[in-house]
Amino acid sequence: MRKKIVAGNWKMNKTYEEALSLVSEIDNMVKDEVNGDVTVVIAPPFPFLQGVGKLMQGNDKLHLASQNISEHESGAYTGEVSGAMLKSVGTEYVIIGHSERRMYHHEDAQTLYKKMKAALAQGLKPIFCCGEPLEERDAENHFEYVGKQLHDSLSYLSNEEFDQVVVAYEPIWAIGTGRTASSQQAQEMHAYIREQLARTFDAEAAYNTSILYGGSCNPGNAKELFSQEDVDGGLIGGASLKSRDFADIVKSF
Ligand code: PGA
Repeated sequence: MRKKIVAGNWKMNKTYEEALSLVSEIDNMVKDEVNGDVTVVIAPPFPFLQGVGKLMQGNDKLHLASQNISEHESGAYTGEVSGAMLKSVGTEYVIIGHSERRMYHHEDAQTLYKKMKAALAQGLKPIFCCGEPLEERDAENHFEYVGKQLHDSLSYLSNEEFDQVVVAYEPIWAIGTGRTASSQQAQEMHAYIREQLARTFDAEAAYNTSILYGGSCNPGNAKELFSQEDVDGGLIGGASLKSRDFADIVKSF
């Protein structure tokens, strides 16, 4: 059975004190209010990983993620953070290929493939992001666009490596814009993604892969999105910065 996952991507927000308060609030809400088998993932900025992770210990629903990873193992790469470093502070998941990294930091398919390998080599679970810009959707080229993203960065992984991968579909036109994909648009893309994965890897592995939706997901639309057959949860940006909103999204299954 595939996991239901709600992941909060805090991006470049919060000071250390604020991050600790936010995770404490989420910890309490998840402990008190969430029944069932939802995996809650929190991705704070790098400097807060250890402190935030410490406060999450003891709550087995909460899991720690980083927002990025270096494709290199170690050495003279000023400003970069390796998989081994992430692992050593208790990180379990890594967001790879977020559209903001692709856009502002010029991460291409080959770099993302290397980052996937770097994460997997350390036993970290990648949350691989894909999603089309508005012009590709308007040109009705969104399936091909996302299919190519999957092919170019994932298809060279082994079946064993692929078993560890979570996919997040985040249409760029929906990120931080308040404009969400309709549940039908999300479902048809998620089904397409699963079909592509089943062609590359084995069908059972593709069936068991969690595919998250991201892009202006909030407490008002999460239930409808998560009720779709191939939507296994969400990657949440803005709404993950407010404990009440985030907890309500977690409770939307
Ligand atoms: P958003 O961001 O929820 O603020 O749209 C989602 C994301 O970028 O992961």
